[in-house]
Amino acid sequence: MELDLNILKPQERLSLQLRLLYEQEGFCKYHMGRFEEYGLYQENRRFLSSEQVITFTDLDGRLLALKPDVTLSIAKNAQVEAGSCGRYYYAENVYRPSQESHTFQEISQMGLECIGAVDDAVTAQAVSLALRSLALTGRDFVVELSHMGFVTGLLDAVGAPEAIRPRLLTCIRDKNLHELQKCAAEAGLSRQGADALGRLGQLSGGWEAVLSAAEPLALNAPMGAALTELRTLCGTLAAREQTENLKLDLSLVNDMDYYNGLVFQGYLAGLPRAVLKGGRYDPLAAQFRPGARAIGFALYLDELDRLTDQEEAGDGRGMLNVALPKGRLGDKVYDLLAGVGYGCPENYNDTRKLVVENPTAGIRYFLVKPSDVAIYVEHGAADIGIVGKDILAESGADVYELLDTGLGRCRMCVAGPKDFADDPGRSLRVATKFVNIAKRYYAAQGRDIDIIKLNGSIELAPILGLSDVIVDIVETGTTLRENNLKVLTEFMPISARFIANRASYQFKRREIDTLLGKLREVTEQ
Ligand code: PRP
Repeated sequence: MELDLNILKPQERLSLQLRLLYEQEGFCKYHMGRFEEYGLYQENRRFLSSEQVITFTDLDGRLLALKPDVTLSIAKNAQVEAGSCGRYYYAENVYRPSQESHTFQEISQMGLECIGAVDDAVTAQAVSLALRSLALTGRDFVVELSHMGFVTGLLDAVGAPEAIRPRLLTCIRDKNLHELQKCAAEAGLSRQGADALGRLGQLSGGWEAVLSAAEPLALNAPMGAALTELRTLCGTLAAREQTENLKLDLSLVNDMDYYNGLVFQGYLAGLPRAVLKGGRYDPLAAQFRPGARAIGFALYLDELDRLTDQEEAGDGRGMLNVALPKGRLGDKVYDLLAGVGYGCPENYNDTRKLVVENPTAGIRYFLVKPSDVAIYVEHGAADIGIVGKDILAESGADVYELLDTGLGRCRMCVAGPKDFADDPGRSLRVATKFVNIAKRYYAAQGRDIDIIKLNGSIELAPILGLSDVIVDIVETGTTLRENNLKVLTEFMPISARFIANRASYQFKRREIDTLLGKLREVTEQ
């Protein structure tokens, strides 16, 4: 009987092709059991994406875990002779919590790991295989590459205090220039220091142009060494004609505990998030083998099954899909965009239509509930969106935050009765729509709270004795005043932010930057 490969799903077909590729390149298949001693994860928590792991007690009383990660097991168990480099590939399922669905997910991963004496040649082989892996999908793809040494070197050079670094890194990663500047100012960094950090976001594009722009900005030896490593690697890949889909983006930063050198991520056209993630992870390798170096990547195969034929045909490419919040804020933003050439012939307020578009201007608007904007963008249903910072912070959506439009200004506050006095002897009852924001705020203060989640008319809660205080947005203060409440603390300025899906920004960068530039001109404060 002939084997018809067409019956295979995209991820099944690809995993066979990848096996062949990795075997041909001298990698050995690493097979691991479904379970691993929980102690391995407990001792190496800092290398895991989440501390939540599914555990159970085996029949002999050992505490085992359904593996949340493959790299840790390979780093621990690989038999590598001193002075050599072990090369392994794997196809395994891992089990990780999904914040969104509030349940554990089985994730199908394929990847490779090089552990031991990793040199320039091994590094080039690993990145080259990342590129070839995505090329096998037959889709348009981008691999973006960066070096943690450049960013950490820059943080050292500008004297960024340790305590503020995680916040600065989040801003850099989100291309959030407005908050980066604010955060740098709060940390007491000089103007030049803040500007240098802000420039990271512009160091993005073809490798030669980015390296030429970055080299004069190297302020110390680690930054220079990072660029030298990138130049060597890109030169090798260029000689193999593999740089067409390669992009440098020096604002790409990943988990600092895990990665210590090169980092890279791969995107496929039509999929909303990175399908490949990898980099240099010497600290983890050295945990089991002193002095060892390591580089590897994982491909998230499940994501491939989301590809549809429609996307394959390139539908929607060239059109920018915008999630526009229904209501006053959305109308204001739409008016601004219409004023700079992104209007639609049809007025959406005259109809009940949820989609309006202008193909000539290359724009399509989805009218969505304000609280859903970040979800549409994170999941790639829309490329870009305009969303209040309150909703963005509450959702924790993994998107780029490209501009503070300055529209819809208000602030997140704790408010309560005029005569409110906190009793630290008992937990504080807090009513809010913004559960995550409230939890984070009080956790930072070490204050024990009970949350009462409401969906509106929050001010009623303390009036009726349902809560002691509320956490809510205050714009004019009228609602509080008219209900005999007052602001107790203001802790987060809010305004509408322009956000973009991470993958869309790879494939529609020119269109997004053009729109962003025009929006910036009319909102410049
Ligand atoms: C928001 C917020 C406050 C009010 C603040 O409510 O929850 O209640 O606006 O505005 P002010 O300071 O100008 O009075 P929204 O109008 O969204 O309605 P909601 O009660 O349904 O949340």
